[in-house]
Formats: sequence, C-alpha cells, structure tokens
Amino acid sequence: MSSQAGKVALITGAAQGLGKAFSEALLKKGARVCVVDVNSERGEATVNDFIQKYGKENAAFIKCDVTSQQEMENAFTFATSTFGGIDLVCNNAGLSGENQWEQMININLLSVVRGTKLAIDHMSKHRGGKGGIILNVSSMAGLMTTHLSPVYCATKHGVAAFTQSWAKNPDCEKMGLRFHTLCPAFADTQMVKSAEERVPDSATAAKLMEEYGLMSPETVAEAFMQLVEREDTTGAVLSVSKGYGMRWIKEGTQP
Ligand SMILES: NC(=O)c1ccc[n+]([C@@H]2O[C@H](COP(=O)([O-])OP(=O)(O)OC[C@H]3O[C@@H](n4cnc5c(N)ncnc54)[C@H](O)[C@@H]3O)[C@@H](O)[C@H]2O)c1
Repeated sequence: MSSQAGKVALITGAAQGLGKAFSEALLKKGARVCVVDVNSERGEATVNDFIQKYGKENAAFIKCDVTSQQEMENAFTFATSTFGGIDLVCNNAGLSGENQWEQMININLLSVVRGTKLAIDHMSKHRGGKGGIILNVSSMAGLMTTHLSPVYCATKHGVAAFTQSWAKNPDCEKMGLRFHTLCPAFADTQMVKSAEERVPDSATAAKLMEEYGLMSPETVAEAFMQLVEREDTTGAVLSVSKGYGMRWIKEGTQP
C-alpha cells in the first residue's frame, strides 16, 4: 500500500498549475486533498474533475485568499472537519510580476508564514495533531538572483530561509513535524505564460529558459512526491529543472 494512502493534504493555489499537479500526484497515491484557492470557478472545476476520477470522499474545494488570516483559518478548519485531520500542508500559492510587488510579498512570503504557522497549530502532536509535513514552494529564484525579478527572488529566498530555519528547531521532533523546500525552475503554467507576455524580448530571460528548459507541471510533481515520501529527513531542499533534473541542494537531517 502507498505510504500516502488515507493521508490528508491541504494545498494552497491548487486550482491550476503546480498545485493542481501536486494534488493529482497525491490523489493517485490514495491521499485525500483539500484544494485551497482564491479562484473559485477554477477551483471547483478542478475538484469536480478530481471527484470524477478519484471519488467524492477524496477531494474538496474551499475558496480562500491566502492573504486573509480569517479565510486561512477557515480553510484549515474546513479541511480538518471534512477529512478528520491534516497530514501535509503545501504552501504553494504564488504570484509573479514586479509591478505588483506589495501583493507579491503578501502572497509569496507573508502568506507562507501564515500557512506554516497554522499548519504547526493544526498538526503538532503536542496540540493534539498527528504530526506531518510542511512543504513550502520556493523556486530556482530562491537559490539564485536575477535583475529580472528582484522582489520575486527576495520572496523565494525568504521562503527557503524561513522553511529551513523551522526545520532546525529542536522542538520539531516532539511536534512530529518535518519541513521541506521545493525549488522548481520554469514549468509550463499560467505564471510563466504571463511572465513571457510581460518580458517578451528579454535576452536574459531567453538565456535562462534555454539553460533550464520548461518542465511540465507533472515533472515538478515528481520532485514534490520525492520530498513528501522522504520520511527519514527534515529540512531538505530539492531543486528541479528540465535542464538539470532533480538536485538535492540540501539532503536535510534526521527528524
Ligand atoms: N511555474 C513556474 O515556472 C514556477 C517556478 C518556480 C516556482 N513556482 C512557484 O510555484 C507556485 C505555483 O505557481 P504556478 O506556476 O502553478 O502558478 P499559477 O499562476 O498557474 O497558479 C497559482 C495559483 O495560485 C492561486 N492564487 C494566487 N493568489 C492567491 C491568493 N491570494 N490566495 C489563494 N490562491 C491564490 C491562483 O488562483 C492559481 O490557482 C508559486 O508559488 C510559484 O512562485 C512556479
């Protein structure tokens, strides 16, 4: 039996793109998924598709803006009451576009902190939870820098630093919590399509794209599953790109 059978995942920004692919990879392994997204039309369509394929008891949607503390609390309460607990939280919702830099910091960094804190409250063993994994989505932009997207890079470096810092907390073992960071390069989602429209002629962007290539969301989901299934470690950082494949930037340590 898959190690994910019966597990419950809450994934933000899962109506489309990478979050949707992560959700489907888990559903294929027998997990149950709470799709959290601000886009209710797309979120409901995604969950209806999941229900057709994997059964109505295994997927649910809740509309939630991750920048709202109240809506995020509601999403965690909804997932817990619908599925009887949470085993995995993936803070994935994100935005690019330097002209919306305040909203980007709010979604990409502040809301990852918010989602992580709520995940700790809901999953910690010493608070009645079962323990679990907190997997935060950074980026290749969290491992390097480029003048094309200084604020995006700052948010993604922040996500990586925040997540690895939590993994070093000695209390994590008694909390039963493990923290991992996923750093994908370019993947074929709406985010990259919109970015291409914004910087169509950038030689730097074209050079980066040529070096790293463009992955399918399913390829990124394979890396996501590698992290989810590494039960022997915490604080792992995994990068994935078409050009270089999967690379363990940090293997992590004993939980
Ligand atoms: N696509 C890539 O090349 C790539 C590379 C590295 C990292 N990432 C990261 O992966 C994550 C997912 O990106 P994607 O490519 O799937 O993008 P996407 O635009 O396809 O999907 C993002 C999802 O997040 C949701 N979302 C946005 N703001 C929200 C909010 N305030 N509250 C709730 N949901 C919200 C959107 O509705 C959408 O469903 C992001 O954190 C992104 O930075 C993407």
